[in-house]
Amino acid sequence: MCGIVGYIGHRDASTVLIKGLKRLEYRGYDSAGIALINGELAYRKGKGKVANLERVLKNDSLSGKLGIGHTRWATHGEPNDINSHPHLSESGNVAVVHNGIIENYTTLKKQLTERGRVFQSQTDTEVVCQLIEEIYHSSPNITFEQAIRLALKQIVGTYGLAIIHKEIPDTIFIARKGSPLLLGIGDNEMFIASDASPIVEYTKRVVYLDDGEIAIVTKNSYRVKTIDDVPLTKEVHELAISLDAIEKAGYPHFMLKEIFEQPRSISDCMRGRINPENGTVLLGGIEDIIDKLVNARRIIIAACGTSWHSALVGEYLFEQLAKTPVEVEYASEFRYRDPLIGKGDVLLVISQSGETADTLAALREARNKGALVLGICNVVGSTIARETDAGVYTHAGPEIGVASTKAFTAQVIVLIMMALELGQRKGILTRQKMKEYIIELSRIPSKVEYILEHIDEEIKNLAALFTYAPNFLYLGRSYNFPVALEGALKLKEISYIHAEGYPAAEMKHGPIALIDEMMPVVVIAATDHTNDKMISNIEEVKARKGRIISIMNDDNPEVKKLSEFCISIPSTLDCFSPLLTVIPLQLLSYYIAVNRGCNVDQPRNLAKSVTVE
Ligand code: M6R
Repeated sequence: MCGIVGYIGHRDASTVLIKGLKRLEYRGYDSAGIALINGELAYRKGKGKVANLERVLKNDSLSGKLGIGHTRWATHGEPNDINSHPHLSESGNVAVVHNGIIENYTTLKKQLTERGRVFQSQTDTEVVCQLIEEIYHSSPNITFEQAIRLALKQIVGTYGLAIIHKEIPDTIFIARKGSPLLLGIGDNEMFIASDASPIVEYTKRVVYLDDGEIAIVTKNSYRVKTIDDVPLTKEVHELAISLDAIEKAGYPHFMLKEIFEQPRSISDCMRGRINPENGTVLLGGIEDIIDKLVNARRIIIAACGTSWHSALVGEYLFEQLAKTPVEVEYASEFRYRDPLIGKGDVLLVISQSGETADTLAALREARNKGALVLGICNVVGSTIARETDAGVYTHAGPEIGVASTKAFTAQVIVLIMMALELGQRKGILTRQKMKEYIIELSRIPSKVEYILEHIDEEIKNLAALFTYAPNFLYLGRSYNFPVALEGALKLKEISYIHAEGYPAAEMKHGPIALIDEMMPVVVIAATDHTNDKMISNIEEVKARKGRIISIMNDDNPEVKKLSEFCISIPSTLDCFSPLLTVIPLQLLSYYIAVNRGCNVDQPRNLAKSVTVE
């Protein structure tokens, strides 16, 4: 949440910062701003998207070779011009951009106000620059860097910070606790960003800052140290992402591009990990801990949003294929009930971004209690990926659209591969069975491709019919119950239509009261072993005149007869079915949102990476 950029070097800083902010805009788009030093410390900022800021800069430009920038997802203080970052200290000499939450800001603000400091904004961030300046001014012998470290010791909460001082025009100070920050090392230039997307165009060499670290960055040097002034030697990593992967490639939205990328992202996720000929799965990332996983008492999976839905699919998978007991938790709730977890348990966290604050907190809670902590992440080098004991990357490529699509299918693929590997090692799945599963798994990318080629027009037509429906119900059973939740979430978040997902049989315990001739009910009827029961549920909807839209396999005449609209997809094993059934639901929500004129990639109130608790 919130994106931070910084630049120091020989280029025009404004241009680099604006470009970087556009790439980070998925992290928040309530306001945007930049501050540059060029003799003076000057800034431009305001409510709205980076494009607004860009327009402002056209008429009122800023030049300089050093600067910081910010795109905001509002927490403290409404999204308006004053609350936009950068924030300046009272003298105007210090500028700060911040991602995170300063939890004790009211106390600090009160103390600073009592000592005469005047605040402009309602944000928590403003206390950071005011506090640093106050400490800096309090003693003639103190350096600015020392003042920053002393201020950080008084701050409770989370932060990724970039700080500049008018009188230190060759340096950017950055600090991290709980919010991601990395440093890109160029040739006589340095880049700072919340993730790699603003950096990759210029350099592939990056240093990830860890919690409790600060860095002092000039155009040709950087020093990283702890908040207690202990110098650190940091590893320089090579970025694996390419520029193409973070651009729209001719699609009108990132979400559509990412939906259509799924045949490839699924293949990338499986590449080198499955062997259909000899029926084996090998996940390098968990090889060292595989015995602990095999012997685990149980697995708890914690995640949020779409990743939580893939966790629910994981529960079915691990219990069916590996006979390992699984519990699925909302990461945001996990630590608040003093969970009974410890040695012998495994906590598996799932996160596309690898930065979700709630998921990270669940991970830390479980690790502190002695559990083995594993991760499934998409973003390489992300905080969760680095803090887990072991894990598996999804390799889906950058996902920029706020609505998660290809990350979901890749997470499910990883869960399938983990469950198969576990089932094989526990002796539950024979070599023959493994071969059958893996052969079918290797067919999934072409089945997804087939769906995308054949149903796109049908879904567009369906979306046109239901664009203005005020409500939607999604029903599924077994493996497709989580897909019902996912379909409803996709529709809600990008088209602002109220939608609910339910296990189909649960409907009669309440939600059936909602069904009338106006209610579209999306039925995910593509799971063989629950087909008869599902048919009964569809009858129940039909009896109440609900408008049935079925996602079904080609050969299901009963479902076809009962449905007003049918989307036919190829069949697969029940346990792989979410990988196919989710595709029409992603497209349906996409086209409805487009018809409604919604901002698909940047839905209101949301951000891609939720780094606040
Ligand atoms: O990066 P994560 O997978 O941890 O993110 C979790 C959720 O915030 C995320 O899945 C969110 O629900 C998406 N916007 C759903 O499309």
